[in-house]
Amino acid sequence: MRRGLTTLSALVFTLGAVCVASALRWLDRPVATVASVAPGRASAKPEPYVWDIPAPFPRPPVPADNPMTAAKVLLGRHLFYDARLSGNGRLTCAACHTPSLGFADGREQAIGSTGDVHPRSSMTLTNVAYNPAYNWADPTTTTLEAQVLVPLFGTSPVEMGHAADGAELLQRLKTDPRYRPLFTDAFPDDTAAISVRNVARALASFQRTLISVRSPYDRYRYGGDRNAISDAAKRGEVIFFSGQRGGCFQCHGGWNFSGGIRHERDTLTQAAFFNTGLYNLPGGTSYPSPNTGLHVHTGLPGDVGRFRAPTLRNIAETAPYMHDGSLATLEDVIDHYAAGGRTIAQGPRAGVGHDNPNKAPAVHGFELRGTDRADLVAFLQSLTDSTFLGNRAFSDPWRGRR
Ligand code: HEC
Ligand code: HEC
Repeated sequence: MRRGLTTLSALVFTLGAVCVASALRWLDRPVATVASVAPGRASAKPEPYVWDIPAPFPRPPVPADNPMTAAKVLLGRHLFYDARLSGNGRLTCAACHTPSLGFADGREQAIGSTGDVHPRSSMTLTNVAYNPAYNWADPTTTTLEAQVLVPLFGTSPVEMGHAADGAELLQRLKTDPRYRPLFTDAFPDDTAAISVRNVARALASFQRTLISVRSPYDRYRYGGDRNAISDAAKRGEVIFFSGQRGGCFQCHGGWNFSGGIRHERDTLTQAAFFNTGLYNLPGGTSYPSPNTGLHVHTGLPGDVGRFRAPTLRNIAETAPYMHDGSLATLEDVIDHYAAGGRTIAQGPRAGVGHDNPNKAPAVHGFELRGTDRADLVAFLQSLTDSTFLGNRAFSDPWRGRR
């Protein structure tokens, strides 16, 4: 049912785009310009954040208790690039979510501030505001405000490595005179503006602005520019959207090429989790511990290996792939799906993923002929949005001021 709806909404968007008369105009405008707010300026009413999201794309949902303002976004951007957010001062959020690396980190598995190797790979923050649940397979974390507490205070593994009470973090922020005006502008009604809750709200607000909808594929599909992508990418698109062949759209669906999304008019969509046959270890648990996916939360054998289907926007920039970075290239990913699940011939992880009992039926395998693999890669590359990755509104605001 949900899958049907995703397909339907993809169709509605496609049709919508054809009807939007102004479809071409938005392409020239910069996305998500953060109004330059002079910190410290006394303002009675905070300036609302001005979205710049072209039709036909919806705005993301925003929690009622954390409305978007330009000042909050500006504060969140400062925090995102501040190494004082890690216990030993070594790591920023941006170190693991780097714009030029598609807001991921280029590693198979992330490495925390104290050297802890994270069991999983860093995720892109592209269009993160629309996700119905956060992290690779965590149905319980459903807001960005809640997600932020994981990297800040998590202990298994340590990411930023702050003590759970947040006292040291707040002390550091309070002693930098540049933060006080940023916080009071962002939270003018709050007498104790420098709090963990407000740090989380500001980081969430900044992350909600990370919206990518201006790739060559968008110009082609929604902007009426027939030459925006190559013939190879057009052939790859056909394979991607063919149920018999790639079948990719069944899980990476809609305009975000992801599992179902939430947006301003739909805040109820639930996250979906799929097993793609990446592993098939013998014994009871077919995926290597601790990455057993949704099963970690439910304990159900049928949930082993089920993960969220992430957005494929900017995917060419975020190698290596999958929850544990175990596929190095997009070609490897395509071979995994074409085989209907990966076979690992030897070693502790040997097994035929194709035969994983939990594998989603949509991972049925398909024959790659001629230029098919290269065509699919060209299509995925057409989802790279250079205006997003290079957007100065998302860059380090401390540069030259440290
Ligand atoms: C050590 C590297 C590292 C640091 C530092 C880090 N992250 Fe992450 N981030 C990750 C990894 C790994 C995941 C996947 C977590 C999982 O699945 O358990 C992730 C996931 C996320 C997600 C979920 C994305 C999605 O689509 O579900 C968000 C949001 C996020 N991080 C934001 C932040 C913010 C904000 C900070 C700074 C406060 C931060 N991260 C610091 C590595 C890092
Ligand atoms: C049954 C649902 C399903 C289908 C069909 C599917 N995917 Fe996926 N995809 C997922 C899930 C779930 C993940 C994460 C899996 C994991 O990490 O173990 C994923 C991960 C990926 C990734 C890596 C994302 C990242 O950030 O590392 C790429 C690339 C990808 N898929 C491309 C494709 C392509 C191309 C196709 C079609 C040939 C396809 N997918 C078909 C569900 C699906």
